[in-house]
Amino acid sequence: MKTVSSAIAPVAFAITLACVSAADVSPARAEAACDVDKPGSELSLMDAAKLWHCLNEDLVAGYRTGDKRWIPEEFINDYRSWKAASDFPAASSVHGGRFLVTFVNPVGEKAYMQFAEEGVKMPEGSVLAKESYTVDEKGHVAKGPLFIMQKVAEGTSPVTGDWYYMAVAPTGEPMAMDVITACSACHQASFGKRDGMGYPKPEARAKP
Ligand code: HEC
Repeated sequence: MKTVSSAIAPVAFAITLACVSAADVSPARAEAACDVDKPGSELSLMDAAKLWHCLNEDLVAGYRTGDKRWIPEEFINDYRSWKAASDFPAASSVHGGRFLVTFVNPVGEKAYMQFAEEGVKMPEGSVLAKESYTVDEKGHVAKGPLFIMQKVAEGTSPVTGDWYYMAVAPTGEPMAMDVITACSACHQASFGKRDGMGYPKPEARAKP
């Protein structure tokens, strides 16, 4: 009898382990642990901030996964040490209804954090990075892209106001797109007087 029961136990243990590791590697709903009990449109600022804390490590780890190809890797590795321009994630109807948190690197910090409406000229070497996530009508959370803008030397790209636009998928792959139509046209048309910058919503802006 003894031998039978000791033979069963390891089998049961092995099955449990198999289930756990299968659940762990499921990439699609890794963020399910952060789901909320109300639609995204009804989240309070506090709910959105809590959710961001829940996603936090996972979001950054995703962006950092794999080869960044044409996107400077240091942007992705460093942006979390830059100045946070938002105090909490605010929903934007424009960037696909996503909740957004913006960071600005040391070169651009002084100019960006004034959130000036006119006469803005960002210095060459400024980089802005914006994290995103969405919450659907059922309260399901999904990680969104990391959006990046880099100010390059004057005259390098006049059509985009000398900004390079880039985006990294939540899985870490650089996203191929026509940046003129996908990004620059809206930024230039909407925010021409602010050197193409959208800024976080007023209630979400951090202190300089
Ligand atoms: C339809 C208009 C529109 C399009 C298209 C768009 N953006 Fe934006 N973008 C905005 C607005 C509005 C903000 C400010 C949003 C906020 O934080 O509330 C913004 C903010 C940003 C920021 C933060 C810096 C800033 O401007 O204050 C980055 C970085 C950014 N966008 C990158 C991109 C990239 C990359 C793309 C293309 C994949 C893109 N955007 C497409 C409107 C747009």
